[in-house]
Amino acid sequence: MNYEHDVLVIGGGAAGLRAAIAVAESHPDLSVAILSKVYPMRSHTVSAEGGAAAVIKSNDSLEDHIYDTISGSDWLADQDAVEAFVREAPAELVQLEHWGCPWSREPDGTVAVRPFGGMKIERTWFAADKVGFHLLHTLFQTSLKLPSIKRYDEWFATQLLTDDARCQGIVALELRSGAVATVAAKAVILCTGGAGRVFPFTTNGAIKTGDGMALAYRAGVPLKDMEFVQYHPTGLPGTGILITEAARGEGGIMVNKDGYRYLQDYGMGPPDPWPRLRGMELGPRDRLSQAFVHEMRKGRTIKGPYGDVVHLDVRHLGEQKIDQKIPFVRELARRYAGIDPVHEPIPVRPVVHYMMGGVHTDMYGATPLPGLYAAGEVACVSINGANRLGSNSLTECLVFGARAGKSAAAFALEHKRVNRGALEARARDETERLTSEFFRKDSGSERVAALRNEMTSAMETGAGIYRDEGQLRQTCDQLAGLRARFARVRLDDRSRGFNTELTAALELDCMLDVASAIAYSALARTESRGSHQRTDHPKRDDTRFLKHTMAYRTDGEPRIDYLDVVITRWPAGERVYGR
Ligand code: FUM
Repeated sequence: MNYEHDVLVIGGGAAGLRAAIAVAESHPDLSVAILSKVYPMRSHTVSAEGGAAAVIKSNDSLEDHIYDTISGSDWLADQDAVEAFVREAPAELVQLEHWGCPWSREPDGTVAVRPFGGMKIERTWFAADKVGFHLLHTLFQTSLKLPSIKRYDEWFATQLLTDDARCQGIVALELRSGAVATVAAKAVILCTGGAGRVFPFTTNGAIKTGDGMALAYRAGVPLKDMEFVQYHPTGLPGTGILITEAARGEGGIMVNKDGYRYLQDYGMGPPDPWPRLRGMELGPRDRLSQAFVHEMRKGRTIKGPYGDVVHLDVRHLGEQKIDQKIPFVRELARRYAGIDPVHEPIPVRPVVHYMMGGVHTDMYGATPLPGLYAAGEVACVSINGANRLGSNSLTECLVFGARAGKSAAAFALEHKRVNRGALEARARDETERLTSEFFRKDSGSERVAALRNEMTSAMETGAGIYRDEGQLRQTCDQLAGLRARFARVRLDDRSRGFNTELTAALELDCMLDVASAIAYSALARTESRGSHQRTDHPKRDDTRFLKHTMAYRTDGEPRIDYLDVVITRWPAGERVYGR
């Protein structure tokens, strides 16, 4: 089986759908396909809750959104990319409105906005606290109207095809049948999301296993700034389910075991007057997650069945406001924590939420491999630097999904048909590789689940909120050992159709590559910045590290290099919150 398109998008979440729509709208004559390992409405975008940022109100300004994003990134964001992002953001959200997204309104009928962490002013658009669900529906329905978009649902991309020094498509596994096929394309856009599943405790769905990052990395494309892993300060213990920052945006407070609003002790300003924008509970995620660790060390957190927690209290908002503005928070807390936030505080703790790093791209989504593009969480443009502000990522999926779609379409128009003969041979090779690696008779004794558990625990121990050289080295060694053991992995399921054990093995293969890029990048960055906190190097070091980390795959340890950050108008300064 072999297929061919002009542009192929891998991933059916917000970035992927937006990219495909951009191709179809700008060039209806081009054939565009979306290939995704899950049905698009099951993409992780669906679980986004709190909102999407863009300047819309007259009391706000593009300059402020740019500044908040750059200072939030601890000056590691590329400022030209941030400027483009902020300028194009409002039009993207208005466009979604026109496609049918039910943004919540103010009483006067205008679009409502709420405060979010690290932002100077209310600028987060929302649809109650089910923003991802509504946004994804809107994009999916829009894609259904465009006849040039074809879909390959439940296909797993296993390899990028390169020929003539450019990306010319992929090899993929059809999960239903187990058949391997090539999908040739003049341009490929990776929109496969992040890799939170390399950690044990995450808000990320089980599908977020870094597949697109690994595909690009194996094809020689560097992974940028992988050491920057975002912990969201309010996840439910046990499951890691997200309790949205919107709960704090609407007025929720965080207290320790003594009922004390401890964030005032960590440079987040005095608690009153409320709301303290860019301060207290509306401080940036890196600082709030770090404050939790200090409270825990001081013995001021609450012991629960799933470890230490603090309390997120929204009781004072009242039932009516909770049901109107954050109904999903109530639903999740009732179902997964067994408490009703109208009457009791919600137990929460930091949880891995987002990868600031990803596939190195320019502002147009182009990677260094001609014909390969990336957008959304899989990509590092970079607008998020060392710490992303909440509600910038959905907007990033839209702005850079559209940009990548347009760039890929232009590339496809300028390039000739792909070399089908060479590519078909590659599909045969890949079938043989999968058979010999995963279905051979004399296979070893290593189990996917055991290796995965060891990987996630090594990552949590060495590459968590606080890191140091000794622990990072140990994590790197453990990952190298796991990589060697992966070669001896054994599958019990030898069937071809919907072989979930095979899918889990392929995902683990990707995660081991991504985990290693994270750990080695973190080891090499001997400074503290944003979400990357080295206890042995506690200061930010702009002289040596106002640079992006570039990790290149080798047969051994990743090769680490650096790239200058683009500074346009905002020289690196102090990050000040709570004042
Ligand atoms: O808390 C939240 O609703 C998360 C938003 C985000 O990560 O952008």
